Amino acid sequence: MSQERQKQAAAEAAVDYVAAHLEAGAALGVGTGSTVNFFIDALSPLKEQLGGAIASSEATRQRLAKLGIPLLDLNDIDRLAIYVDGADEIDHDFAMIKGGGGALTREKIIAAAADVFVCIADAGKRVDRLGNFPLPVEVIPLAKRLVAGQLTALGGRPLLREGFVTDNGNLILDVAGLSIHDPQALEATINQITGVVCNGLFAARGADILLLGTENGVLTCAPPAATLRR
Ligand code: A5P
Repeated sequence: MSQERQKQAAAEAAVDYVAAHLEAGAALGVGTGSTVNFFIDALSPLKEQLGGAIASSEATRQRLAKLGIPLLDLNDIDRLAIYVDGADEIDHDFAMIKGGGGALTREKIIAAAADVFVCIADAGKRVDRLGNFPLPVEVIPLAKRLVAGQLTALGGRPLLREGFVTDNGNLILDVAGLSIHDPQALEATINQITGVVCNGLFAARGADILLLGTENGVLTCAPPAATLRR
């Protein structure tokens, strides 16, 4: 099965998950990226079941709107039961690197608000240790140089994502070379750097369920009990 087909199969499994678990009329959180695009494209049959969607980016908002799915503001809902999103890497504890599409800050906010984070990914995203994929860090433009210096001091090689501005009007530094032995600790350390808006480590709040597209079909995986967060 090709990587694209694995993404699509994981996305379709997520639609089945939502159909089975989301109460009628409830809101659904929707992530960003090519895997999520397959998910959105398969959502039509659930249009009547959904109360609406919380979009993690302008791109996702536009794709949902084309489908006629009502868009909601996270501030206007009492509860978000399910958030579906992809990952650039996911480890065995379901900590992730995200933000390859640059939507990491809104993604992290929606993930924090959701009861259940369903990660959809192709098999190539599963890793033993995070960090081969450069870690995206969203930065206030004024602080670009200051933050880059601090990330270098942490052992990283920050590179400005040229010509890219986030939906929040900020910049992205993609940081290669970090050695990520303790994802939660590094997530907290980078968040403490003045001028950082958010970093793409999703470890303090990782995924709860992984729908992994593989050569042999979609695997439904749960994290080890020791890492269950809620
Ligand atoms: C978007 O900012 C990202 O966090 C995506 O969720 C992640 O990059 C996965 O994207 P793909 O599904 O395109 O691989």
